[in-house]
Amino acid sequence: MSSAVIETDNLRKSYGSFTAVNGVSFSVQPGECFGLLGPNGAGKTTTIRMLYGFTPRDSGSLRLFGLDCDGAWRLIKDRIGVCQQDNNLDPDLTVRENLEVFAAYFNLSKATVRERVANLLRFTALEGREQSGVRDLSGGLMRRLVLARALINDPQLLILDEPTTGLDPQSRHQLWSRLEELKAQGLTILLTTHYMDEAQRLCDRLVIMDQGQILVEGAPRELIRRHLGDSVIEVVAPCADLRRMLVERGLPHEDLGQRLVIYSGNGDDLYRELVAEHCREGCMLRPATLEDLFLRLTGRELRE
Ligand SMILES: Nc1ncnc2c1ncn2[C@@H]1O[C@H](COP(=O)(O)OP(=O)(O)O)[C@@H](O)[C@H]1O
Ligand SMILES: [Mg+2]
Repeated sequence: MSSAVIETDNLRKSYGSFTAVNGVSFSVQPGECFGLLGPNGAGKTTTIRMLYGFTPRDSGSLRLFGLDCDGAWRLIKDRIGVCQQDNNLDPDLTVRENLEVFAAYFNLSKATVRERVANLLRFTALEGREQSGVRDLSGGLMRRLVLARALINDPQLLILDEPTTGLDPQSRHQLWSRLEELKAQGLTILLTTHYMDEAQRLCDRLVIMDQGQILVEGAPRELIRRHLGDSVIEVVAPCADLRRMLVERGLPHEDLGQRLVIYSGNGDDLYRELVAEHCREGCMLRPATLEDLFLRLTGRELRE
């Protein structure tokens, strides 16, 4: 039997005639941080909502911790923690009450709840704020409370839907280091994000999806190397003969008008040539990034 924490096979979900998730399969191993990336509307949230039983799937199979989700849901749900995309905290309760009320969904002793609440308040740096009403919290504090709440049952799998969207840089970095600590403790993490730096920093493996389907899957560095090579050349205000040259030689590139992005593989030679012959200024050689790959695969059109 497989030891995977998550195993999905051909998950599908439609809303009326619209297919939101169109045959998604992936697996996540114990201790891995696995990322679901994709533009708005790609089907990330729908996919993970099927995983934690919030959205019924139309078809496909789903196993968590080696257990069939259709049969063993009660056993499974106690082992998962979820941070949904929206901060669905109870606005009438304090920080502490939000944790205590949620803890009541699990079969925990009073002493255990007391200890876990204290530990989690410390872990998420919410000590001193425990009597605050949720309405008084900033976005960053709410996110920390949502994380604390998701950990109250000491889960083996943590699912995070856009954990850092809308947060300031300090809050993002603080949350990342918390997630890294959890990962170091062996927690398996599934996360969706729009931030490529977040994915590159946290994810051991990831998929990029669009229109309900997975486009690519792999470790971030390996994906970049496989699809783009090591480096990218950017040229600002390119001249006409450079455009002609790229087309003539069939070099993969994107023409953004005022800027050319050239996927040059290992681009040192090409870079030297460009600087010498085509563009003395405004030519830059840099490492290819996950953001390059994301845009290459999903395009540059606005989604909303
Ligand atoms: N309850 C729903 N009813 C109808 N359409 C939905 C519903 N939930 C999601 N969708 C649609 O499914 C698509 C995928 O949504 P979602 O999974 O939220 O994408 P993502 O999280 O990647 O932004 C979107 O086009 C969205 O409008
Ligand atoms: Mg979403």
